[in-house]
Amino acid sequence: MYDFKIAAADKTTLYHDLASALEGLVAGEPDPVANTANAAALIWETLPDLNWAGFYRNVGGELVVGPFQGRPACIRIKFGEGVCGAAAATLQVQRIDDVHAFAGHIACDAASNSELVVPIVRDGQLLAVLDLDSPKTARFTDEDEAGCLKLAEILAKAL
Ligand code: SME
Repeated sequence: MYDFKIAAADKTTLYHDLASALEGLVAGEPDPVANTANAAALIWETLPDLNWAGFYRNVGGELVVGPFQGRPACIRIKFGEGVCGAAAATLQVQRIDDVHAFAGHIACDAASNSELVVPIVRDGQLLAVLDLDSPKTARFTDEDEAGCLKLAEILAKAL
């Protein structure tokens, strides 16, 4: 059992500790399902105010749900559809303060109000996206975006 107790006073320290824990969890393990499953659990346990945390994988040019924590979710998302599909199509982070104002947002859980989606890219190829949903409007800040980009960088070597 891993017992990571990450309780930092500020977000910079929180993400620093989260990145270190993730590095440790995936070290030496090449299996992408194992690594994304543990990453979803670690993020879920560490970051407050989330109602979904997990991955959509690039399976032949379509996003297919991967390991996650939260309520059962939509299984397949086409590139260009919804917030995840926008991240997949553009390879750009999508930080949405109010998902109800995002044209085409796919509501997997009616409780979601804001969302952060970070592409995980290796050698220019999309491997997956990290998707975080929150019931709080504008839950995700610049610091969350920077912190999650670091997590995506770690995972790009572990998928
Ligand atoms: N809201 C996402 C769909 C995935 S769920 O949030 C888990 C979207 O619009 O792509």
